[in-house]
Parts: sequence; C-alpha cells; structure tokens
Amino acid sequence: MVKDNDQIQIPNQRDKKMLIGVVWNCAAELKLLLSALLFLCSLITLFQFFPSSFRDLTGCASFPPPSSALQLLVTPPPPPPPVHNKLQDVVLQGGLIKRNFNGYGSAAYNFILMSAYRGGGNTFAVIGLSSKPLHVFAKPTYLCQWVPHNATDNQPNITVPGYKILPDWGYGRVYTVVVVNCTFPSPVGHDGGGGQLLVHASTSGGGDSNFDLTDTIEALTETPGSLNPLQFTAPPKYDYLYCGSPLYGGLSPQRVREWLAYHVKMFGENSHFVIHDAGGVHPEVMEVLQPWIEKGYVTLQDIREEERFDGYYHNQFLIVNDCLHRYRFMTKWMFFFDVDEFIFVPKKDTIKTVTDSLLQYTQFTIEQRTMSNKLCYLDDNVGKIYRKWGIEKLVYRDTKRGIRRDRKYAIQPRNVFATGVHMSQNVKGKTIHKTEGKIMYYHYHGTISERREPCRQLENTTEVNVGGTPYVVDTTMREAAGAVKRFELRMIGPVLQKTHQ
Ligand SMILES: *[C@@H]1O[C@H](CO)[C@@H](O)[C@H](O)[C@H]1NC(C)=O
Ligand SMILES: *[C@@H]1O[C@H](CO)[C@@H](O)[C@H](O)[C@H]1NC(C)=O
Ligand SMILES: *[C@@H]1O[C@H](CO)[C@@H](O)[C@H](O)[C@H]1NC(C)=O
Ligand SMILES: *[C@@H]1O[C@H](CO)[C@@H](O)[C@H](O)[C@H]1NC(C)=O
Repeated sequence: MVKDNDQIQIPNQRDKKMLIGVVWNCAAELKLLLSALLFLCSLITLFQFFPSSFRDLTGCASFPPPSSALQLLVTPPPPPPPVHNKLQDVVLQGGLIKRNFNGYGSAAYNFILMSAYRGGGNTFAVIGLSSKPLHVFAKPTYLCQWVPHNATDNQPNITVPGYKILPDWGYGRVYTVVVVNCTFPSPVGHDGGGGQLLVHASTSGGGDSNFDLTDTIEALTETPGSLNPLQFTAPPKYDYLYCGSPLYGGLSPQRVREWLAYHVKMFGENSHFVIHDAGGVHPEVMEVLQPWIEKGYVTLQDIREEERFDGYYHNQFLIVNDCLHRYRFMTKWMFFFDVDEFIFVPKKDTIKTVTDSLLQYTQFTIEQRTMSNKLCYLDDNVGKIYRKWGIEKLVYRDTKRGIRRDRKYAIQPRNVFATGVHMSQNVKGKTIHKTEGKIMYYHYHGTISERREPCRQLENTTEVNVGGTPYVVDTTMREAAGAVKRFELRMIGPVLQKTHQ
C-alpha cells in the first residue's frame, strides 16, 4: 500500500515542481531584468527615453532573452538584493511629477493545464482554466506548436493558431474554463516518431499593456510508438458512459448506493461510470463504490486539487470537458447528469431502443420530473418507511405549470468539441429537444448531500398542495426499486445491505 502511494505521489509532485519551476524561472528572469532596468535608470535620468525593446518581455518563459539584454545582464555587478525594485515618482522639468506604479505578483494564472487529448491525427483539445477578467476584458490568444521528437527538415515544427472555446461563459469566477482546439493542416506524429504539443498562451497585454506575456505550456508528450491511430476509428468499447460532475460535501452513502445500482441496471453490461471526487467521496461512500469499481463499472478520479482554483461550482465545466475528451472515442453515447437524478425510460422502451431511435442526432436533451425532497407517502406503516429506499418513499411529484426546468443531455461524443452542464454548444450535427415521453429524469434535489432521513413530512392523500406547490403521487420509481434491489444483490452480493443514510 505504502509503495503504491509513493508511486502515485511522485508524478504529482514532479508536476507541481515543474509548474512552480516555470513560474519561478520566469520570476527570476523578470527580477534580473528589472534590476538591470533600474540600474540603467540611475544612469539615465530622463525616464521617457527608455529603449522600447527592453519593455518587451514576451520571451520570458519560452525563449532566451535577446543578446543585447543578455550582455546587459552580465556586465553590471548585481545591486544588493532589495525586496522590491520599487520605481519612485520622478520630478520632471517644470515641476511636473511623473507618478509610477509598482506591480507585485499576479493574482490569477494565465493558464492552468488540466489535460490535453488527441481528437484525431491532426487535432487536439487542451483543457484548463484561465483568469476570468483576462478573458472578459482582453483578448488572450493561443498558439499551438507540434514539435516532433526528431525534428528534421521534412518534419519541421508546425505552428497554428489555437481556437479557444469558453464553455462556461457567463458563469466563471476568478477562473473561467478554456478548451483550446489545436488543429493542424495535416496529421502530426502519425509516423509513430513521437513528439510534443506546446501551447503558447499570450496575455496580449491584458494584464499589463507593456508586456505581452507568453507562457509556454507543455500540453502533451507522446513517446515514440505510443500513438495508436486506430483508436479514432475503432468501434467504441462502451455503449453508455456517464460523466459525473464534481462530488463534494457530506454525501449520503445510501443515496449513492441507490443511484449506482439503478443506473448500472439501466445502462447494462457495456456501460461505465466516471465519478469525480472533489471531496465528497468519504470512506462510507467509498464502501459503496468499491464493489462496482471491482466489477469494472466505475472509475473514480480524485480531482480535489481543483478546489484550489476558484471557478464556477467546483470547476464543474472543467471536469465535464476533461471527461468528454478523455473518453471521447471509448463510448457511443455519453450522459451528463447528477447523482440526485435518475434517468427513466417508460416500459414500452429500453435505453437501447431510445438511443437507437435518436442515432441521427449528435445530442438529445432530457426533460425533468421534479420530485419533492421531503414529502413522503404514508400508505403503509410509519415504522417501515425509514427502511425504504429514497426512490421508494419520495413519491410526490411537483406538478406546478409554467416553470422552466433544467434539462440534462446525452451526446455522441465523436461529434462534440466542448461541452456544458445542461447541453453542449460546440457540436457537429443536430440536437433534438423533443424527447418528451420517451426519456426523462426524476430529480430529487438536494437529497444526495443530506445524511438525515429525507422524509420530513408525511402525507396520506394522492394529491397535496404544500407552500403553493401542487404535488401528485407518482410511484414510477418506487415500482422500479424492487428489481434494482434484486439486481444489486445478484451483481455484488449483500455487501451493501447495511448502508446508512
Ligand atoms: C477541433 O475543431 C475541429 C473543427 O471544428 C474539429 O473537426 C476537431 O474534431 C476538433 N478537435 C477536438 C480535439 O475536439
Ligand atoms: C523545434 O522547436 C524546438 C523547441 O522550440 C527547437 O528546439 C527545435 O530546434 C525546433 N526544430 C526545428 C526543426 O525548427
Ligand atoms: C532520431 O534521430 C536519430 C538520428 O538521426 C536516430 O538515431 C533515432 O533513431 C531517431 N529516433 C526516432 C524515434 O526516430
Ligand atoms: C390523513 O391525515 C390527516 C391529517 O394529517 C388525518 O386527520 C387523517 O386521519 C389521515 N387519514 C388516514 C386515513 O390516515
């Protein structure tokens, strides 16, 4: 166990060091250059005749400084290291006071790389976060460069502009999500020679108009022989893959248990569930996931580090885009919904007949059936109700009309370039919303993140009005529960019988 942990941590630490290394290197060069400038300052009294070429720090992270600057760095003895090279105000001719401004540090990264994936022989998706105000008020740009391991004359470096997609536009916080689509005019690395995808991210003067700072990101490295071009055309391994949003907070192990057994049964043998742990998978939830991980139905990703960066809703859009591109060629259909939501297909159909009937669409959206998260139906004795599954006892459906309710969706991911939470905007092909009556989801809002008994109000009539909202009893999910319980027992045995709320 200890050894495993070590092996997992080493690459992490190295990555971190690399990131810090890049920032630090850059800072050191900047500091040196600034010190040099200050030195120059003390020699030349007239500030405005400053050589403009020194202002351009574009190459800081990626290219060696121009040779004239290099000489300048070498010749003067370094001044005693001040904490900050503070620029003073200058009194000019006629008593005019030129005020100066001193910048310290930077508050948001230009780019935080999460991942990069190939989308074919000539195309890549690079997924990360970037400073939100930078994107709102400036025009940061991205250049993609493919560097073959053995760059030769007939295999030179290729550079193309990256196409940036902002899937959470209108939502971001300190950070916004960026998917950079790098598409080269012809296949790269297809000879199996390996290579590296670099992305040059430029602020275009957004943070400081004196500096078009460019950071070079090592997005993806392919070792020679590692590329399997067949992966893009081979039939997908799964029929259905679930991409989960980040899980956080005190999740109810019992609700997770119900959700997982229900959906493994619904999506069947050729399905897979990618669960993202942003702090919500505590040991009791882990116990619920474990048997399904062992059966090969669940992959758990620890994304807790993402919490360091303040984006919208635990960086939900970042995580779903990573999932899209990571599994894009592994599944026919990809579903995006939450763990307090249950997909339902009426009896005459199955999930397969529904998706087969929608094959001509890249995307379909799914209507919501809103269930009460606290009203329970008292149609048998009170003592027993607490032992029932959530989907058995929460049977009151909200029938209020004229409310726009969120939808969830599924896609054929090979035709999708970036994705959202309620639907994908960057797709090739058609989207259909008219799926009413064919497929829907039951939404038990908030039940997943509560560890107490969900039944907090017992009702004994099939129609009730609570706080102005009309409810009717809808036992659809209750009727499905028995088969789900038997399915769970058959698949993983009785290990989860004692699971708590
Ligand atoms: C990038 O965009 C192009 C054009 O829309 C598309 O064909 C390609 O599949 C995209 N690549 C990725 C990796 O999404
Ligand atoms: C390609 O780029 C790399 C890194 O920027 C550089 O070291 C190499 O010399 C370049 N090769 C060619 C053929 O341009
Ligand atoms: C790279 O080039 C060197 C020298 O030409 C050669 O020996 C080596 O096999 C090449 N490596 C690959 C992966 O092509
Ligand atoms: C239903 O509930 C009401 C009030 O909560 C109560 O007065 C009534 O006796 C109940 N009826 C039955 C059949 O339990």
